[in-house]
Amino acid sequence: MPEPTPPGRDLLNVLDYETAAHKVLPPMARDYYASGAHDEVTLRANRAAFERVALRYHVLRGVEVRDTSVELLGRRHPVPLLIAPAAFGRLAHPDGELAVARAAAAAGITQTLSTLSTCSIEAVAEAGGGGPRWFQLYVFRDREVTRDLVQRAEAAGYEALVLTVDAPVLGYRDRDARNRFELPEGLAPESLSGALAKVQAEGAASGLFQYFAALIDPSLTWDDVDWLLSVTRLPVLLKGVVRGDDATLAVEHGAAGVIVSNHGGRQLDGAVASLDALSEVAAAVDGQAAVLVDGGVRRGTDILKALALGADAVLVGRPVLWGLAVAGEAGVRHVLELLSAEFDLAMALCGVQSVEEITRDLVAGRQ
Ligand SMILES: Cc1cc2nc3c(=O)[nH]c(=O)nc-3n(C[C@H](O)[C@H](O)[C@H](O)COP(=O)(O)O)c2cc1C
Repeated sequence: MPEPTPPGRDLLNVLDYETAAHKVLPPMARDYYASGAHDEVTLRANRAAFERVALRYHVLRGVEVRDTSVELLGRRHPVPLLIAPAAFGRLAHPDGELAVARAAAAAGITQTLSTLSTCSIEAVAEAGGGGPRWFQLYVFRDREVTRDLVQRAEAAGYEALVLTVDAPVLGYRDRDARNRFELPEGLAPESLSGALAKVQAEGAASGLFQYFAALIDPSLTWDDVDWLLSVTRLPVLLKGVVRGDDATLAVEHGAAGVIVSNHGGRQLDGAVASLDALSEVAAAVDGQAAVLVDGGVRRGTDILKALALGADAVLVGRPVLWGLAVAGEAGVRHVLELLSAEFDLAMALCGVQSVEEITRDLVAGRQ
């Protein structure tokens, strides 16, 4: 891999990081990070949905003093921004999820660690020190493996569980199939062991697709949400909800939150853009649980648009991987700083002093 560039004058925004990351990443990793399912219609729709929303900003509101922080699950977050779970961080940089943990902790921003991280639950907790972190859960066919992951996350101080519900089977990512995606020698899902720690391509598909088919439980139902809640004392959020009726069920079953998400366009191609699904979900949840959204957040104004349409906070997936690929911890730190600063700027230009003032009437056509 070429030497990473330090964050510099050419890296003014998250999209600059995308361009720079694509120059340094080996093709298989670049395609794995960038790809959506099949024709990537939903991948593109996630971005287009943000670009369609127009802001009706206030003027003359006195915005010299602004507070970007937000309360979420009993903790104050400096900005309504969290890091989405992403598998295989060490494909981007040798320090992988450890670098993300350090950058997140420095910013006080919550990192959500993937079940399929290339640094272990415990190592990431240690690297992140006192920083806030959540753990994302895939449910294995072997329920004892799942229970063990939950217990380790609890013991290591993770503050919430994110159960991914949009991946009973893995979406088919044509680019990964073409590349016969697999982890290079020396990289593995470090929180797992034995057969569960091997992601290797055999035959004509992606190794990750085969891994899911063999090991992840496609039979999950709402009963399994009840099971998970019965084996943990942590709040549980369901990630991948795009409908009001499913959100209502999530609340009824005791979820602390829902994450409106289509997995960054990587699961069901043709799925509704996450921003377009947000209002329906927020209305159904009606303040009884937290509502977060991810998919296509690339600018501070995107965060503000999501909040105006009913989210309590957003998550970013690929932007963090781009920062990691370009400059490790410093790159992730810079990406988080850019998004935080842009969000603060967006608040000022919309005439709001606090996150509570970000209301639906700021979005054209939706007041
Ligand atoms: C490379 C990559 C790996 C991902 N791995 C996981 C994962 O392990 N678990 C999960 O729930 N979501 C995973 N996601 C989805 C993200 O959590 C998130 O929903 C998505 O990336 C948000 O869209 P964005 O990348 O446009 O910000 C992954 C996404 C990417 C791009």
